Formats: sequence, structure tokens, C-alpha cells
Amino acid sequence: MSTPRPMQSLPCDVKDLALAAEGRRRTEWAASEMPVIEQIRARFAKSKPLKGHRIAACLHVTSETANLAITLKAGGADLRLCASNPLSTQDDVAAHLVKDHGISVFAVHGADNKQYYRHINSTLDFGPTMTQDDGCDLVNTLHSKRRDLIPDIVGGTEETTTGVIRLRAMEKDGKLAFPVIAVNDADTKHLFDNRYGTGQSTIDGIIRATNLLLCGRTMVVAGYGWCGRGVAMRARGHGAHVIVTEIDPTKAIEAVMDGFQVMTMEKAAPLGDIFVTLTGNINVLDTVHFRKMKDGAVVCNSGHFDVEINIKALRKLARKSRTVRPEVVEHELSPTRRIRVISEGRLVNLSAAEGHPAAVMDMSFANQALAAEYIAKHSSKLENRVYVMPRDLDEKVAKLKLRTMGFSIDKLSEEQEKYLSSYDMGT
Ligand code: ADE
Repeated sequence: MSTPRPMQSLPCDVKDLALAAEGRRRTEWAASEMPVIEQIRARFAKSKPLKGHRIAACLHVTSETANLAITLKAGGADLRLCASNPLSTQDDVAAHLVKDHGISVFAVHGADNKQYYRHINSTLDFGPTMTQDDGCDLVNTLHSKRRDLIPDIVGGTEETTTGVIRLRAMEKDGKLAFPVIAVNDADTKHLFDNRYGTGQSTIDGIIRATNLLLCGRTMVVAGYGWCGRGVAMRARGHGAHVIVTEIDPTKAIEAVMDGFQVMTMEKAAPLGDIFVTLTGNINVLDTVHFRKMKDGAVVCNSGHFDVEINIKALRKLARKSRTVRPEVVEHELSPTRRIRVISEGRLVNLSAAEGHPAAVMDMSFANQALAAEYIAKHSSKLENRVYVMPRDLDEKVAKLKLRTMGFSIDKLSEEQEKYLSSYDMGT
């Protein structure tokens, strides 16, 4: 991997450039689990498909994202990166990208709301031609406060379910001002990142934050989308009794048939030892639930925004609150009712752990890189809509990943292809 020297005047805001060496080790460790992105990087370095593009990226600043950023730069892009969540930034990785790759990064772990938006604005200041977002905060800022920059933007990508929901609402209202590819909707993204990535990293965050034994405990999983499915599956694997809560009848049936208990949150509240929200909606855990929870109940969130647990209401109910472990605040409602919140209700997998493992981000970020290349090639034909990831690119990621994992699969024979495209061959 080449390591160009940064320009003297590189605009950036990171915690400490002296952390770069550790960030480099971390990024290289992640790279060893990301063979698909490595292959794309090698191709990009030759063909420079992003030459002339300025990409404003708002993603979790992790070692996995660093490998995407290096790939986009290898493809010829001028790149600026800011954090999509103030608690997920790995300061050493941010320093590495600036110091060793000359990439403008605006991200500091623990940034407050003001600094978070200042970083988004700094990322936009160079007048991007493309966006990459995780949760839609950057695109939202563009549409609400930086509209002057929109004419130069030919397209964008969105990484997560919550962001795609926001973009589709903008599209429906006729407000979306450039095309966006919903990377989240690629099969090679949500079937793996959302399910296995969130499944493992959420449990990882809960364990790192609390060191609780999960077996024999009752875990309540709110939301049975791909992320909820993953968490429920892995919680069961740890020996927890899992209760699922849902608002969608079909998903609820699926949870029942997957062997989980399904009930309302009001019924689950007094039963749960650990609660995880992954719904994308607000106040999924609220006063009515806190009042019913057991003493010592642990609550956390693994949905994109910190809106799922009504922390304000919990603080109001509490007589006192204290930090009991680095990532855990205990709220005492009465001497016999204490509720423990991990990472202030922010994404537990990225705040209390390191996010999804690199092997799964390999596919997510391969989709991001290929989507950026697609936009660079086809932007003139795209409308101001939310597009699903082109099927052939999704399949390309699957093929590459499968090959790097050392598996091969069967091919349809000519006879089988014919059978599948016919309608006159019956019994
Ligand atoms: N989202 C979830 N896990 C992540 C990771 N490790 N890096 C970047 N974005 C993520």
C-alpha cells in the first residue's frame, strides 16, 4: 500500500496526528480481512474511475472505512471524510488517514453536536461532486443549509436502512435534488452487514460494556428487521432467552416461527434483563416501560440514531444517576429499581465495541466503491431518485467474496437454463 505524504496545508480536524502509527496498524489488520475491497483497490489504482471527482463521505471513521477511503483515493477521487456518529470515531485511524494518506478527515471521538455539524460542513466545503452517507445527515445538511453546492453533485450513496428511509421520504416529497444509490438494499450488504455484522458487534458491545453473562438471561430485542434478526440469533447462541417485540405482523410471525417469544414491549418490560432496540423509530423504550423494568435492567440501542430510548424521560424519573463503568450510566428510580444505560443510548456496537468485523464490511464497502464507480460512469442517465444497487454489481461482490472465501458453486447447465426460461415443460 503506498503512503503518500500529506500536503502541508491539508484541511483536517482530528484528535492527534501522533496516533497515526497505531491507526495504521489497525487499518492494516482490517485490510487483511477485506480481500474484495483490496481487489477493487488494485483495479481502481490502474483505471482511475473516480478521477476528477470530489467525494464528501460521512461514515463511521473506523479501520474498515479507512480501507474504503484508501480505495476511493486509489481510484483517483479527492476525498473528504467526516464521522456519521460522534462516538464511533477511532481517533488513531483518523490520524493515519491524514498523516499517511493525505486524506482530509474531520472527526474527533466524542464530538458534541456543534462540532459534529461543523465537521459535516468542513467536509462539504470543497464542493463535492459525489456524496457517501451513513444515516443521511450529510445529504440533509446539503439539502437544508448548503443548497448552493447541489448543482455540482452528480450522485450519492447511502449505507444504512435509516438513511434510505429518510431519502425515500425526500424522494416522495419531490425534495431529493440528486440521485442516490441505496447501498443498504444490496443483498450483499444487508443480508450480511445488518444481520451477521450487527448480530455479532451488538453482543460484543454489550459484553465489553458490562461483562454480563448472557446465558440464562432474558434478552428483549425490539425490532425484527435484518439487524434485529441477527441480534436475536446471536443472543440465543449465547444461551439467552430471547423475546422479540415488533409492530409489523409479518415480521412478528417470522420471529415466532424462528422460535422466539413475541409480545408487546409493555409485557416484555418486567421480564427483560437486557433490552436492545433496533427499530429506527423513536421512544421505543419510554417511561411506561422503565417503570416496569426489573432492578438492574440493562438497556441499549443498536439502531442508527440515539432516539430509540427516551433517555430524557429516564433522567426525569431518576432520583440520581452515576457512571458505574466506562460506558454505563446507572439511573436510580428508587433504591430497588436501577436501570443501566450503555453508551447513552447511542449505537452500542460502535460506541462500546468496534463496529462490524472487517470481513463483513468488506462486502458493504465493496458495494460503496462499485456504486461510486457506477455513478461516475452513468450519472448523466440517472434521475433524482433513490436507486437500488444495480443487480450485476451486487452479484459481482457476491462472486468475489465467495471466491476469496475459498468456495466454489455449481453452474446451470444449458438444459437447466432452458428449463428455467421455459413455460411449456410441466409434469
Ligand atoms: N457500521 C457498522 N460497523 C462499521 C464499521 N466497522 N465500520 C464502518 N461502518 C460500520
